[in-house]
Amino acid sequence: MPPDSHSPSRPKKTAVPPPDGWQPDPSAPLPLQGQILEYMLERIGGGAWPAGMRLPSQRELSRRLRVDRSTVAAALGLLAERGLIETNRGGGTRVAAGPSAGGWNDYVEEGTHYPNLPAVQAINRLEFDRRLIRLGTGELHPDLLPDALLRRMLAELAQSPRLPLSYEEPLGAPALREAVSAELSASGIQADADSVLITSGALQGLQLIALGLLPRGSTLLLEKPSYLYSIHAFQSAGIKFSGLPLDEDGLSIRHLQAEAARHPGAALYTIPSFHNPTGAVMSAGRRRELMALASRFRLPVLEDGAYQELWLDAPPPPPLMALDTEGRVLHLGTLSKTVSPGLRIGWIAGPKPVISRLADIKMQTDYGASSLSQLLAARWLNSSAHGEHLAGLRSALRSRRDHALALLDRHFASIADWSVPAGGFYIWLRFHQPLSALRLFDAALEAGVLLHPGQLYDRGDSSRIRLSFAYASGAELEQGLAALAATAKRLLTES
Ligand SMILES: Cc1ncc(COP(=O)(O)O)c(C=O)c1O
Repeated sequence: MPPDSHSPSRPKKTAVPPPDGWQPDPSAPLPLQGQILEYMLERIGGGAWPAGMRLPSQRELSRRLRVDRSTVAAALGLLAERGLIETNRGGGTRVAAGPSAGGWNDYVEEGTHYPNLPAVQAINRLEFDRRLIRLGTGELHPDLLPDALLRRMLAELAQSPRLPLSYEEPLGAPALREAVSAELSASGIQADADSVLITSGALQGLQLIALGLLPRGSTLLLEKPSYLYSIHAFQSAGIKFSGLPLDEDGLSIRHLQAEAARHPGAALYTIPSFHNPTGAVMSAGRRRELMALASRFRLPVLEDGAYQELWLDAPPPPPLMALDTEGRVLHLGTLSKTVSPGLRIGWIAGPKPVISRLADIKMQTDYGASSLSQLLAARWLNSSAHGEHLAGLRSALRSRRDHALALLDRHFASIADWSVPAGGFYIWLRFHQPLSALRLFDAALEAGVLLHPGQLYDRGDSSRIRLSFAYASGAELEQGLAALAATAKRLLTES
C-alpha cells in the first residue's frame, strides 16, 4: 500500500486497459471476431489504448469478452498483421508504436496533472452505459432534479430584454453572489457578496486552491477515507496528503493535533457534514475542538460543504465557517448535489484577499463559469423553488435510503456491515472477510452492476465499497444489490 504522502503512480506505458464492460454481441450480424477487431481498432485509433500499453493475456481477454480463446487469438492476429500490436519474447502483447511515434501520442501523460486512477476512468465511461445499474454514483437520478421548475425559469430568462452573453466579473455574476451570500447566511455563515467567488463546481474551487494557495511540497491533512483521494487536484500540484482517521463524530482531534504538530504550515481539508464516502457528520463539540486547535496551530481550514443541505433526519450542526472568528476557514459549496451537476455552479467563501487571488487564477483559467448558468442559478436561489425542492428531495432521498438499508439487511447481513447515513448520498460498506473490491468491481460489471471500490477513497482499504442511494431506482436497487450480494458471496467462497 502506498504511504499517505504518496504521489499517485503514473500507469505510463505498462497499464492494462481498464475493463470498460464492452462485450461482443452474439446476435449481431458481424461475427464475434470482427466485432472484437472493430472494437480494438477503435480503442487504438482513438488513442484510448496508447502506444506501448500492455494488453491483457488472451486467456484474460477471452474471460472478459466471454468468447473462445481462439476468437480472441484470431482478432489479435489481424491486429498484429496490420502492425498495430506487437508481441515480445516473453509473450506479452503491447500496442505498437505505429506511424504516429514522435507525435503528440508520445506526450500522453507527460504533463503535470496526474491521470485518473484506471478504475475512475472506467467509471467515468461506464456511467453512460445504460445497461448497467449504477450503485455508487455521486449524483441524483434525473427524476430527482428540478426539471420542470428550471424549464420554466429558462423560459422566463429567454423573455428578458437581453441574454447574459458576455463575460462576467472576475468574482462571478453579482446577482448570484448576492444569492449565495444569502444562502450562506441562512446556514450561519456571514460572507458578503465580495467574499464569494463563483466557480465551475466545487471541484474547480479545489483546483484553484491547490494551484493558488498551497506551496509545492506542503502537506494537506484530511480525513481518510476522503473524496480527495479519488481525484488528483492536490497531488498534481505537488501537495502531500496526511490522512486522519474518523469515527461517527468526525475526524479524530487527537490525530489532527499530532499531524498539525508534525507538519508546520500544513492546511486541513474536511467534509464535516455527510462526509464522502462514509456519510459521517462531525458533532458540534468536535467542530468547536477543531476550530480551537486550528487557532492554536494557525491551521488554515478548507471546509467542503457539498452535501450539507442534504440532511435527512435533522440539520447538521452549523458549518465550521460559522464558528470562525479569525478568517481561518474557506468554505466550498455547490449546486451539483442538490439542483444540477450539469449547471457547473459552485462557490468559495472566505477572506477577501484570498478570494481575489483565487478569482485572478480563475480568470486565467476559464474567464468565469457560464454566464447563462450563473443567471439561471441566481434566479433559482432567489425564488421559493429552492427551499421547496430541497424539502421534496429530502423526503425522496429518505425513502431511498431506507429502502437501500432494508435491502442491505436482506442480502448482506451475513457478509458485511455498513454505515447508516443521516444525510448525503452514501453508504460505506465493509465486508467482514478480506475481499478485493477491485476484483468485485470487475465481477459486478459482468453481472451488470457498476460500483465504486473503496480503494478510490483510501488506497489501503480494499474491503469496502461506496454505495449510493441517490441514483438507482427502487427496482434497480433491488436487482443490483441482490446481484452484487450474489457476486460477493461467490468471490468470498472462491477465495
Ligand atoms: C465532497 C465533494 N466535494 C466536491 C465535489 C465536486 O462537485 P462539483 O464540482 O460537481 O460541485 C464532490 C463531487 O462528488 C464531492 O463529493
